[in-house]
Amino acid sequence: MKFPERLLPVLYVLLSLIISSCNSGESASDDAESRAEKMLGQMTLDDKIGQMSQLDIGYFRDAEQLKKAVREGRCGSLLNFTGVDQVNDIQRIAMEESRLGIPLIIGRDVIHGYRTVFPIPLGMAASWNPAIVKEAFRISAIEASSQGIKWTFAPMLDITWDPRWGRIAEGCGEDPLLASTMAKAMVEGAQGDSLTDPTAIAACAKHYVGYGFAEAGRDYNTTYISEPVLRNVVLKPFKAACDAGVLTVMSAFNDLNGVPTSANEFTLKQILRNEWGFDGFVVSDWGSVTELVDHGYAVDEKDAAAKAINAGVDMEMASTAYYDNIKALLDEKKITMDQIDDAVRYILTVKYRLGLFENPYVDPQAEEKILDPAFLEHARKVARQSTVMLKNEKNTLPLSASGISSVAVIGPLADAPRDQLGTWCFDGRAENSVTPLRAIRDIMGEKRVNYSEGLRYSRDKSKAQFAAAVAAARKSDAILFFAGEEWILSGEGQSRGRIDLPGAQSELISELSKTGKPLILVVMAGRPLAIGDELAASDALLYAWHGGTMAGPALADLIFGEESPSGKLPVTFVKGEGQIPFYYYRKNTGRPATKGSWTPIDSIPVENPQSSLGYRSFQLDYGYTPLLPFGYGLSYTTFTYSDLNLSSQTMAPEGSLTVTAKVTNSGTWDADEIVQLYVRDRVGSITRPIKELKGYRRINIKKGETATVEFTLTAADLAFFNGRETVTEPGEFDVWIGPNSDEGLHSEFVIAD
Ligand code: BGC
Repeated sequence: MKFPERLLPVLYVLLSLIISSCNSGESASDDAESRAEKMLGQMTLDDKIGQMSQLDIGYFRDAEQLKKAVREGRCGSLLNFTGVDQVNDIQRIAMEESRLGIPLIIGRDVIHGYRTVFPIPLGMAASWNPAIVKEAFRISAIEASSQGIKWTFAPMLDITWDPRWGRIAEGCGEDPLLASTMAKAMVEGAQGDSLTDPTAIAACAKHYVGYGFAEAGRDYNTTYISEPVLRNVVLKPFKAACDAGVLTVMSAFNDLNGVPTSANEFTLKQILRNEWGFDGFVVSDWGSVTELVDHGYAVDEKDAAAKAINAGVDMEMASTAYYDNIKALLDEKKITMDQIDDAVRYILTVKYRLGLFENPYVDPQAEEKILDPAFLEHARKVARQSTVMLKNEKNTLPLSASGISSVAVIGPLADAPRDQLGTWCFDGRAENSVTPLRAIRDIMGEKRVNYSEGLRYSRDKSKAQFAAAVAAARKSDAILFFAGEEWILSGEGQSRGRIDLPGAQSELISELSKTGKPLILVVMAGRPLAIGDELAASDALLYAWHGGTMAGPALADLIFGEESPSGKLPVTFVKGEGQIPFYYYRKNTGRPATKGSWTPIDSIPVENPQSSLGYRSFQLDYGYTPLLPFGYGLSYTTFTYSDLNLSSQTMAPEGSLTVTAKVTNSGTWDADEIVQLYVRDRVGSITRPIKELKGYRRINIKKGETATVEFTLTAADLAFFNGRETVTEPGEFDVWIGPNSDEGLHSEFVIAD
């Protein structure tokens, strides 16, 4: 029977009433775990196996086959199945026609927005503003839940040191603290204040764990991570997500130190369950159970299922090794019924917590909120705060729309509505994007914008349009060149060996710089690109990542001075691929290079006799510093740091101290500054990083005003895993408060014995 659309809300309410009366024995206030336990007691083995299976919509031949599967309890979750009517229909079958009336949990990748698309997560991290990121995830959840999605496979929390890796776009960069604060914000935003709110969707901390350390940045590649790096860096954001109540965790694709992460008892059982007490459920990544065979860790799919179940992967995504083999594995005693019960209990508990048993349906009116003007305004704000200004010679920026007669808009990303949405964006639509060209025309008027794309797309090598682009530049007062990468050049399976601007972009930039006109580069990319030459050739540079639906207006706001740029880099920018990995919390080495101790390649005399060239840790061509340090970013105003003060020069072994500094807006713009606190533990039982971020604040300071920024540093903040235990060791520490990882006011303190 097909209901007329206008009656759908009525149907929705009726169905909810019917369901709650069917479940009258179990009040919503019942504890989710005990309800799950009760349900478990009624389940057959087939019912249980069904709950442990998540199937993609593409698995089914047609709608009838899908309905039959749901009716028979063949799967507990669907992936990539959306739409109000479709979801309400399939949930009705699950609730009313399956034996036990267990609702489905419907999942999808909602990574940085649903229809309102926010900057890629790496861009959001560049905002250093968890509050706006939380709101972005809230908005994504409101939109996604209106289409029946109750589970997002986000946040992606893989720390990486490798910009070649395409999935760097999806994560929060290189720093464990910044990523941890973002993790908390993202989980809280998705899951909302109350899990039973219809707009709450389960979050999923992925990819657990170490996936971002893929060798050479080649996706899916092997990872070797020492336990100190694992615990002091890689696991940190996952722990933060768990502390924030994340309902699910996704095991990853990668082989970690010889044991694939979807069969890794150490990370899944020992750390996640035993040490952290995680009580949600673990889902595999797409096919990562059956890929245990390809890894050479399981002889066949049956063995793979046993290994994943033994390690604690509760639900299998996309492949069917569990469904096909659990019974035989139980018969052969390769797995136990207790393990199956544990997995199903975790899955059901999440479904109860989400209120799915009370209301698995979608309110047809909820979709009216999609692309709400307030959501778009928020996307614009996030895109603004995510943009990092890397150069601004002679105050080239901002441009005065009334003070210049015309501007040239050039480049493959100036009017690329799909590309600006970035990777992992299934539901955002190019037609909703407002491009930089559109936004600049809105401000300057069509006639004062000399547009010439120059290159059709980022990889375009043709110089056919160079002359037209140069001509457009010549007749304009300033050049805005929108460079970068198409969205498809970053993301899953989209790793690069070279991280330069693709195609003939650099050549065109070089041609444009010869015109002598102020050259402003805006880079829209999914990764930190090696843009040393382009930085040198430009007068100003804004790094805008892939900024989402509202990237255009957000950039125009910054370009024309509605607001000052305020983002800061969440990753170190390298000079070239040969510097990778280069992260700010590296170790000092026994032979650190300094300004005077390294030898540039061109200064070596020809036929130099065998000599040391300093015998220091550097590269002859790149030197010993990156292109730009972590935490870097400029503003239209200037901030002056002063009066670093510690409440005490000594911290008790379990104590704390406060660190304060004054930050004065010494320029002429009201603006935000991201104030950063770094620490160095000078000597440890294992060597310690040269700097570690221990706190940050984004604060607005009006021109001429001074803010006092205060951080509390506890002994627990200084704890680290030394290979045996997590300890805070007594000794001397350096502390800095500054604008990035390279600069800052310095002091020191001691942790007493
Ligand atoms: C990705 C996951 C994603 C899943 C479902 C996999 O290929 O690695 O991040 O959540 O697909 O789309």
